[in-house]
Amino acid sequence: MKEQRREFLVNSMQSVGIVLCSGSLMSLLQACDMNEDPVNTNLNTEPFLIDLTKPEFLDLQPIGGAVYYNEPSANGGNDIVIIRLEQSKFLVVSAICTHQGCSVNLPTIDQKTLVCPCHNAEFSPLTGEVLVQPKQGIATPLPVFRNEFNVSDNVLTIYLPIKS
Ligand code: FES
Repeated sequence: MKEQRREFLVNSMQSVGIVLCSGSLMSLLQACDMNEDPVNTNLNTEPFLIDLTKPEFLDLQPIGGAVYYNEPSANGGNDIVIIRLEQSKFLVVSAICTHQGCSVNLPTIDQKTLVCPCHNAEFSPLTGEVLVQPKQGIATPLPVFRNEFNVSDNVLTIYLPIKS
């Protein structure tokens, strides 16, 4: 997907004859990369292994399934949300709304976004980005945490921020 977007941008610019200096083009392409990968790598994180065969993760079996998860020593003791995006791809975000700290609701069949019940901000279930701002004030994207899925043993490793 990222490669297709990059190729599209390059081809589009060439076809309309826009001449950009290489510095500007690189900035544009780098911005593209940043949008594709919002994971905050500056945090001091630790890996936590989640065995998805356990009953408490049953809701993560179908694509689109979501659960809350809590690791008391990580993310300030706050819940996170895990969403299965594809068979081997997950989104892991903080469950704490960036507006005033309420816990966002899990997506459902009827309500596919992550909605904060306090002031109705809505976040993307694909990226954690803000889709609808709260009635007053500003919300920022939900913090996204890196994760890796091992298909062979059905274990999801999530990298959560810890206090240093
Ligand atoms: S605390 Fe979430 S919208 Fe206000």
